[in-house]
Amino acid sequence: MQLLEDEKEQILACVDEVLSNNSKNRENLIPILQKVQAKLGYLPALAMEKIAEDTKVPAADVYGLATFYNQFRLNPPGKHQVKVCLGTACYMVGGDITLESFERRMEIKEGETSTDRLYSLERVACVGCCTMAPVVVLDDQVEGKVTPTRVDGIMLALNEENGKDNKEQKPEQEESGH
Ligand code: FES
Repeated sequence: MQLLEDEKEQILACVDEVLSNNSKNRENLIPILQKVQAKLGYLPALAMEKIAEDTKVPAADVYGLATFYNQFRLNPPGKHQVKVCLGTACYMVGGDITLESFERRMEIKEGETSTDRLYSLERVACVGCCTMAPVVVLDDQVEGKVTPTRVDGIMLALNEENGKDNKEQKPEQEESGH
């Protein structure tokens, strides 16, 4: 993910601030990562590199820790956050297909943020509305019965609201022709 200069400065300043209030040792890595994420909304690679440097813990270990625990988000949250439920009830009625439909429409994979930072996509466990399966949480709003057709409708509305072109999704065999 490309960072702007002032974002880089903000990230480095945030890490400095957190490290100045916490002891810089390996045992303290998780609380340090949590505090940086709480301030920035995610854990950028640049923050992890700086934490590694200042705590003298190898960068690979810091990355390893951040990717091991799914409480850590490595990409910035999009303007619109889509969370697809893959709990049992939702999975049984095609939650995975709903997720794939969003991936295709957003042109990103689950866990990623679009390059324009408009959308981020993640999977979540049961959100407690199983009777509405398959369920999607769109910017904290629960949407039920989200079939691929509804995914298309949701994405059309979001793209329109954000002034983004709605590319026609053609079946694959048609795309390669001519
Ligand atoms: S399994 Fe998706 S809401 Fe319960």
